[in-house]
Amino acid sequence: MKISSEYIELENKFGAHNYHPLPVVLSKGDGVFVWDVEGNKYYDFLSSYSAVNQGHCHPKIINALKDQASVLTLTSRAFHNNVLGEYEKYMTDLFGYDKVLPMNTGVEGGETANKLARKWGYNIKGIEKNKARIIFAKGNFWGRTLAAISSSDDPVSYEGFGPYMPGYDLIPYNNLELLEKELKDPNVCAFMVEPIQGEAGVVVPDVGYLAGVRKLCTKYNVLFIADEVQTGIGRTGRMLACDFEDARPDILILGKALSGGVFPVSAILADDEVMLCIKPGEHGSTFGGNPLACKVAMAALDVVVEEKLAQKAEHLGKIFRDNLQAVNSDMISLVRGKGLLNAIIIKPKDGIEAWDVCLKLRDNGLLAKPTHGDIIRFAPPLVITESQLLDCISIIKNTILSFE
Ligand SMILES: Cc1ncc(COP(=O)(O)O)c(C=O)c1O
Repeated sequence: MKISSEYIELENKFGAHNYHPLPVVLSKGDGVFVWDVEGNKYYDFLSSYSAVNQGHCHPKIINALKDQASVLTLTSRAFHNNVLGEYEKYMTDLFGYDKVLPMNTGVEGGETANKLARKWGYNIKGIEKNKARIIFAKGNFWGRTLAAISSSDDPVSYEGFGPYMPGYDLIPYNNLELLEKELKDPNVCAFMVEPIQGEAGVVVPDVGYLAGVRKLCTKYNVLFIADEVQTGIGRTGRMLACDFEDARPDILILGKALSGGVFPVSAILADDEVMLCIKPGEHGSTFGGNPLACKVAMAALDVVVEEKLAQKAEHLGKIFRDNLQAVNSDMISLVRGKGLLNAIIIKPKDGIEAWDVCLKLRDNGLLAKPTHGDIIRFAPPLVITESQLLDCISIIKNTILSFE
């Protein structure tokens, strides 16, 4: 068997250099733990960007995958299959919408939501052809397609990839006044926003922001699109982060943990007035709604409900933040988050930066990754127990204090 450095060398030589991973080569996962090829065990404190909320290789999800994989995996939507309807009913019952549209990756969910909002804008709101605008919040992240980077204000995402999608505009996050100003334009069909901005570094808006967004969107007949790809499925202490407020979105985007991290499954949900704006042939995906994905997603959601993962996230998240806020170190300038989606901001000291902290965390048995240079996100699988979490808090605390 090869050693870690040989696997890394293989990737460097034959793979595109579009990522900068932490140097650790994983070969096994179980619950909150992952193991590297040398057999070292780590707590996974990223959960594949909140895709593995249910823990690695959850037996219920893997069994659903195996059972369905040996019967029927893909029909395309050229034909019906005997699982899709059951899944659609399950999803709409659980999330309380009339209809669901299944896709694969999170960014496809965002694209689908954008297309649907534009169609609704033309067909229902009566916006003049090709004039529809969608408003986004600065700091947003919803993937890497040309549409997604067209709405980004991060030069690393968009620079060198123009020309960009027209009809997209940005306003500051967590600012209802400037939102209202934009929504007054009758050409605006939607405002798309993350209830907590994950990639921006777990930026939590003020209490009341989401309810305010809902109110303004209703007032100006604009669709409220909530991108819950990272915040949804129990991560922040509710099934949806929007559930904390009176803030039901018109279009809800889900992905990542919808499959428990087993493979890409995403979806958007909306009521008939919106969803039925898209007609046969106007949107789709070869793999979207495949029977394997449907079975995996139902099992993944069952796990979240049966194991009360949202409630666990809320309870454990408080313990996590309380404990980290109590750490007496100049290097932690801020601790923030909701449920088990949290981050600390590292104040560099003597040349030690967030990246170095993550390397040391790895050496101490915990995997996390910096975002935007100085922020470390902490998002363990929600199946973590309280004693495991306390163990992780000690690792993080001791690691940071070791730099003092
Ligand atoms: C909020 C949000 N939306 C969309 C996406 C894109 O998901 P995917 O990488 O599956 O396309 C991400 C990915 O990190 C995300 O955090």
